[in-house]
Amino acid sequence: MCGIVGRITHVPFDIHDILESLKRLEYRGYDSFGIATAEGDVFKATGYIDVHANEIPSRLTSVAISHTRWATHGKVTRENAHPHVSQDGTFFIVHNGIIENHAPLRKALQAAGHTFLSQTDSEVIVHYIEGRVSDGASIDEAIRAFMNEARGTFAALLIRRDDPHIYAFKRDSPLVLGILDDGYAVASDIYAFSDTTTKAVFFEDDEYAVISADSYAFFDARGAPIGKEIATVRWTEAATRDEAYDHFMIKEIHEQPAAARRLILSLENEQAPFMDQLVTLARTANRVLFVAAGTSYHASLIGVYLLNSIGVEAHTLIASEFHNYMLADEGTLVVAISQSGETMDVVKAVKHARSRGSKVASIVNVPYSTIQRLSDISIEILAGQEICVASTKTYTNQILVLARMAQLMGLETDLDAIPDQIEQTLSYAEPAVIAMAPELRDVRDIYVIGRGIAYPLSREVALKLKEISYIHAEGMMGGELKHGTIALIEDGTIVMSFIQNADHDTMSNIEEVEARGARVISISDNSEFSPDFLLPASVPGSFAITATIVGQLFSYYIAREKGLPIDKPRNLAKSVTVK
Ligand code: G6P
Repeated sequence: MCGIVGRITHVPFDIHDILESLKRLEYRGYDSFGIATAEGDVFKATGYIDVHANEIPSRLTSVAISHTRWATHGKVTRENAHPHVSQDGTFFIVHNGIIENHAPLRKALQAAGHTFLSQTDSEVIVHYIEGRVSDGASIDEAIRAFMNEARGTFAALLIRRDDPHIYAFKRDSPLVLGILDDGYAVASDIYAFSDTTTKAVFFEDDEYAVISADSYAFFDARGAPIGKEIATVRWTEAATRDEAYDHFMIKEIHEQPAAARRLILSLENEQAPFMDQLVTLARTANRVLFVAAGTSYHASLIGVYLLNSIGVEAHTLIASEFHNYMLADEGTLVVAISQSGETMDVVKAVKHARSRGSKVASIVNVPYSTIQRLSDISIEILAGQEICVASTKTYTNQILVLARMAQLMGLETDLDAIPDQIEQTLSYAEPAVIAMAPELRDVRDIYVIGRGIAYPLSREVALKLKEISYIHAEGMMGGELKHGTIALIEDGTIVMSFIQNADHDTMSNIEEVEARGARVISISDNSEFSPDFLLPASVPGSFAITATIVGQLFSYYIAREKGLPIDKPRNLAKSVTVK
């Protein structure tokens, strides 16, 4: 995974400037980071950039590359942090992706006398390039040879001591060039430089570029020059901290009413033609197959529920298994849902679907993302940048797009009522959750149940409790509890139950677990059940949002009680760009 940023300019810059850009990519990984300059300086540290930047001296340079890591191969150590350096100390590399055949490449290089200093797959790249160049190849030729021999995924930036160029090459992992006033930036995504330029050139697979402070040139894997379009990207303002909130997560939870209003307006106005095209594609397809991962997968389950409720055949599957368990064909509309638009499993599933002739639509938050660029039609959820690793406002807006799609296909609902319902839920539920959080801080397991539209949201709430509060939680269909999990219910076990409307079956499940000593926290929009949390009367689709918000608040306030790193939980990354 990881994020990479390079910069090359006429007027020298302080290396701390590039760390500021790198910080904006920490959502891609944050276990260690590093920077290298063309003067040969290399600085690395484990931990967050903010915490360790002061250990790095100020240094002026005109060429630098940098990296923020999410460990795949090799533990979180200084040695495994990028940049990696060649044997002779002249080449430096940063890499996002996985070199699948790193073992045989490493073996061959070791046999040729190369000594490796890290356990990473990435280090083979820099040794490989050095080896080729010392055998007489040009750097271009060495890069092409590497691209030819490497299996796996890579976005890589290479610099050489005293060479005024950045060499950039990629397959599958994203890479984009930013045109600055005084040179160029090259990074995993436009967030890295969107404060300084709106002009960008996107790399496609198996392309490389040679970049100087004056110009850049793109080539295909055979070395033929490629003309590239310069895109004018819409301003993607990076989110800033708000003193009123201690964490981005709670700030983003509170942004939900505004984000929802902004999206609904856009779906009914400027994005209306795209929504119409989406609906046309869905109507002409034999069936709709959603594909997504993590929180976005839970949103996709809501999409299936809403479309099936109006007689449209729809299914969904976790992206990493899509090619094994879903039959995408020419008659299928595949709808990829992804906040980042970069999740590798989703990218792979989309490419698979395309190769089988399916039409592809996407629902993304990040414009110009890989998934958006691979789609026939793309809807943007306009949630604004989401910094906390756990998705909150983007989940809500994904559901709103799906509800709008279903509405255009015949679902009777009232989307305009939803932002107010979110507001009411927040102001009503937050104090109650704050009051309950201390007694839940030491809980080890929570079972979360729901039926119908409350089933996907139960899974989403369980995911939030796991990733943010570090509580083992299982979200499941209420009906399934008695087929095994009920064996784990004992005195005091917490069961969170979501009951929409007249769902008497879930009420029966509550009776069953209470009879075995469970402590139930119930959340419903129906006063008949006297729930612990009585939410506003819902319209079709809205319970999936309001009820989840209660779960978001629980995960946040329990994590706070425990003093956990809420915005950057251990071992996670916001955008998972490896398989
Ligand atoms: C990671 C994040 C999750 C996210 C999932 C899918 O696992 O930690 O919060 O839901 O990726 O991300 P996407 O960008 O495709 O929605």
